[in-house]
Amino acid sequence: MTTAGTTDASPLLEVAGLSVHHGQLQALHDVSIAVPAGQVHAMIGANGAGKSTLLRTIAGLHAPTAGSVRLDGRDITGLRPERRVAAGIALVPEGRRLFPSLSVEENLLVGASSRRTGEWSIDAIYDLFGWMRDRRRQRAAQLSGGEQQAVAIGRALAANPSVLLLDELSLGLAPVVVRRIYATLPQLAASGMTILLVEQDVSQALAVASHVHCLLEGRVTLAGPPAGLTGAQIEAAYFGVSAASNGNGDGSPPGTPASAGPASVAPAGSVPASSVPASSGPARQADQPPGVHI
Ligand SMILES: Nc1ncnc2c1ncn2[C@@H]1O[C@H](COP(=O)(O)OP(=O)(O)OP(=O)(O)O)[C@@H](O)[C@H]1O
Ligand SMILES: [Mg+2]
Repeated sequence: MTTAGTTDASPLLEVAGLSVHHGQLQALHDVSIAVPAGQVHAMIGANGAGKSTLLRTIAGLHAPTAGSVRLDGRDITGLRPERRVAAGIALVPEGRRLFPSLSVEENLLVGASSRRTGEWSIDAIYDLFGWMRDRRRQRAAQLSGGEQQAVAIGRALAANPSVLLLDELSLGLAPVVVRRIYATLPQLAASGMTILLVEQDVSQALAVASHVHCLLEGRVTLAGPPAGLTGAQIEAAYFGVSAASNGNGDGSPPGTPASAGPASVAPAGSVPASSVPASSGPARQADQPPGVHI
């Protein structure tokens, strides 16, 4: 391990000095992260911190005003989104965004349309999500939230990406469904896929990622391996230096364990406590009953 956000391995995905504006609003300020091949990194942060903006910019859906995105050493900052898919970047967007009137299989085939060569055939996706093959002709709109999330992941896998960007997989799903969705990620990473995921549930992020980054109002405020982060450090990075109240009633970010382990994280830029967004709060509630299988 070297500095915050980097490791000794050369990064497959590298974001350097990224700034992104939405009109007058600057959503990202000088963001740099590096994700080595085959690793799972997590981006945490409160509502409006800029997490989706970062993933969408890596996918080519927003143009940065400064900085660069590199894939395996190649500068892809100017590439159009479809060219980035062809280069190996696939995004599972926040809210899934399936085609509701298309069948499960047709949604997967949309992902396969710009398919690279690789192991993720439609059959391989059906093997990963056991229920999907039998229901391949069902319309996406008829699926539960967890099932739709699985199809959204499958659609991204169908492109055979080298980098998988996952934006809030757990959004609106019951904890048991979230656990099943997340249980598939180690298998993907073991196959060599590089994963950058956005997650509001801090415990979930710490459990699955080898490296966690925190965004606060568009700035990286913390980066390091979970074992080196304490709850207090995460709290400070998530809400600002002196978090007063966050909806958990104990000052901790959603899902933060009391102590995540010994501290060895590189310090991040200081953020005034007054900058804590009013919308910071607990992870969004599930809208699916427990027991839904994915
Ligand atoms: N298309 C857009 N046009 C204008 N402003 C935007 C746009 N997308 C995002 N923003 C703003 O940019 C900031 C960062 O938004 P972003 O969606 O990246 O945050 P986030 O961390 O993903 O939040 P959430 O947890 O709610 O999904 C917010 O202030 C948001 O209102
Ligand atoms: Mg978002």
